[in-house]
Amino acid sequence: MRVAIFVSGRGSNMEAILNEKKKGNLPNAEIALVLSDKADAPALEKANAAGVKTVFVDSKPYRKNREGYDAEVLKVLREHNIEFIVLAGFMRIITPVLIEAFSHRIINIHPALLPAFPGLHAQKQALDYGVKVSGCTVHFVDAGMDTGPIILQTAIPVNPDDTEDTLSARILEFEHRLLPRALDLATSRRLRVDGRKVYLL
Ligand code: GRF
Repeated sequence: MRVAIFVSGRGSNMEAILNEKKKGNLPNAEIALVLSDKADAPALEKANAAGVKTVFVDSKPYRKNREGYDAEVLKVLREHNIEFIVLAGFMRIITPVLIEAFSHRIINIHPALLPAFPGLHAQKQALDYGVKVSGCTVHFVDAGMDTGPIILQTAIPVNPDDTEDTLSARILEFEHRLLPRALDLATSRRLRVDGRKVYLL
């Protein structure tokens, strides 16, 4: 499947996917495009250095028009015959324009055990709440904020002396394993979705 990775920033999850691809662990995923809503996202440089085609889609002309932005993105995806989307630190809410065009073909990584702590600063939310375990989740994207059917999760202990930085760093290591694995399962057509449940075939 031809895959686009959507990024807004650092791009370490994108790199994890590119590394697994290089190792031959994503046989059914062709990383055809990296798309960013930020012109200066470090992820873009990393993707270019890895020889992956990149595109910046500016959101400024669509400030109050998320659907308009997604329609522009959809045009770009069609030009590149993209069949599957990975959100890897993409800081925008996706609208039905994309969700309907890519039904059960968009996944996202989130740094908490959903449905706990959706949205921004998930690691800080977890620390502030005082949970003893957090983790990361890969899920299909629906119209809600981090609400789609869950594909894979990893639980990680929260230490009493954790800061937002230390917990984020520990979770991130596991994100880098979980996201490529979920992408492999999806592109190998080994996932079946039934309502909220995702079955591994
Ligand atoms: C990750 O923590 C991811 O879970 C969240 O945004 C962060 C992106 O980091 N959605 P990176 O750009 O992949 O390094």
